[in-house]
Amino acid sequence: MVKSGIIYSMDTRAGFGAIFDLDGVIVSTDKYHREAWRRLADELRIPFTEAQAQATRGVDRMASLAVVLGEHAGKFTDEQKAALAERKNGVYKELIKGITPADALPGADTLVPALKALGIPCAIGSASKNAKPVLESLGIAGMFDAIVTGYDFTHGKPAPDVFLVAASRIGVEASRCVVFEDAAAGIQAAHAGGMKAVGIGNPEIVRGCDLFARTLADVTPVQIRALFAL
Ligand code: BG6
Ligand code: MG
Repeated sequence: MVKSGIIYSMDTRAGFGAIFDLDGVIVSTDKYHREAWRRLADELRIPFTEAQAQATRGVDRMASLAVVLGEHAGKFTDEQKAALAERKNGVYKELIKGITPADALPGADTLVPALKALGIPCAIGSASKNAKPVLESLGIAGMFDAIVTGYDFTHGKPAPDVFLVAASRIGVEASRCVVFEDAAAGIQAAHAGGMKAVGIGNPEIVRGCDLFARTLADVTPVQIRALFAL
């Protein structure tokens, strides 16, 4: 009873919502996006630098294509660009065909249930139009109270739209939401929406986040709640 009392008191004082980016936070699909863009750049015989690879992180498909084409973008018509993006997506879909629950990144399967057990609603806020099939392959689609994907907003990260839609779907005010992100654009999007941002992965990339952790396995609900006590 004492134990459940402790949990209950955290529940009532928590009063926040959690929004998770997918690629690079929940699952290591970031490496497949990167590989698919690299193959496209190789086909086009244009360089694909580390800086470009990082700049595509979190960014929607057409904006990522613009990053990959860089100074070569002017050589392609809009129709050709749409075809290139489609080609990249075909390669990406091939690469993710074999995804299983074993591809989930550390902590996805423990932090989300721990937050939910405390009454904290959890959503996915992903730029990817492939987010739902990926979550289904992982067998964790049912774990989230809302799944917001690349089909649900107009302006991609660093605009806050994806996270604002997620916040509204879980019925939590933006200022009471925390976002888990591995991308610079995602940290900016969270802050643009007035949300807290937990940076996951590489501290150099998620600079400016409110809390950093290598993986979701290194984050506890108490640490998250503390972000709202500041
Ligand atoms: C984001 C990835 O989650 O989704 C980006 O970090 C990707 O790399 C973006 O470009 C869009 O993905 P998709 O699957 O719609 O092409
Ligand atoms: Mg990501």
